[in-house]
Amino acid sequence: MPARPDRASGPPSSRVNRLHYWYCSRDAWKRHVREDLVPPTLAGLELGSDVLEVGPGFGPATEVLAQRTPRLTALEIDPVLAGSLRERLSGRVEVVEGDGTAMPFDDASFSSAFCFTMLHHVPSPEAQDRLFAEVQRVLRPGAPFSGTDSAGRGLGFALLHIADTRVVIDPEGLGERLMAAGFVSAKISAGRDAFRFRAYTGVGNTRSPAAIFSESRFSGGASGHAQREL
Ligand SMILES: C[S@@+](CC[C@H](N)C(=O)[O-])C[C@H]1O[C@@H](n2cnc3c(N)ncnc32)[C@H](O)[C@@H]1O
Repeated sequence: MPARPDRASGPPSSRVNRLHYWYCSRDAWKRHVREDLVPPTLAGLELGSDVLEVGPGFGPATEVLAQRTPRLTALEIDPVLAGSLRERLSGRVEVVEGDGTAMPFDDASFSSAFCFTMLHHVPSPEAQDRLFAEVQRVLRPGAPFSGTDSAGRGLGFALLHIADTRVVIDPEGLGERLMAAGFVSAKISAGRDAFRFRAYTGVGNTRSPAAIFSESRFSGGASGHAQREL
């Protein structure tokens, strides 16, 4: 028996509430992640042979990433979600139960790293900064870290996060936070409802000048939706 079916009805121990859990398990959300969020986030990137995803949840992005790399590791803090994803993607993805703010991986283990709509579930700005520093630590030189998150606007977002972790990141300050975590360049593309970021680790001992790029544009993607509330 799977630890939890692909469609979940409620979290026993999650950082997301019951409604949120249900929302993430819906096909419409998974399609949105696969079609709208992941493709522009991966566009033009060399993923390399050892990819890390932090906070896979029900795994919509995990499935896409698994087709793009020989070795994918997914780090999920929720034991039930981790168990269910491990069972479903067994043999294709190594699912590790653990915390992105204190990763159980050696330095320089990965060739690229991703996270989708999970940063606002990390319970404080300090913990989010620890997660950025941990991603930087486990990435190899010159590797990309990219992802998306919600801008946190709207009634739907508020309802989904009642009694739930909701520490929304201000895209304006994200570039500097990524630099403070040790990345050497960061690009932030912000829209009304969501933002996307891409940062790189430095190469060798020579520290290139820090560079932050921002744009107020966030493309909706293939299915024509802007980022939804989550
Ligand atoms: C809103 S869900 C998004 C899941 C998936 N990325 C998606 O787009 O459908 C956020 C996920 O991040 C996980 N998460 C939250 N904090 C985490 C942490 N510190 N380390 C690893 N995973 C975490 C949650 O358990 C949840 O599965």
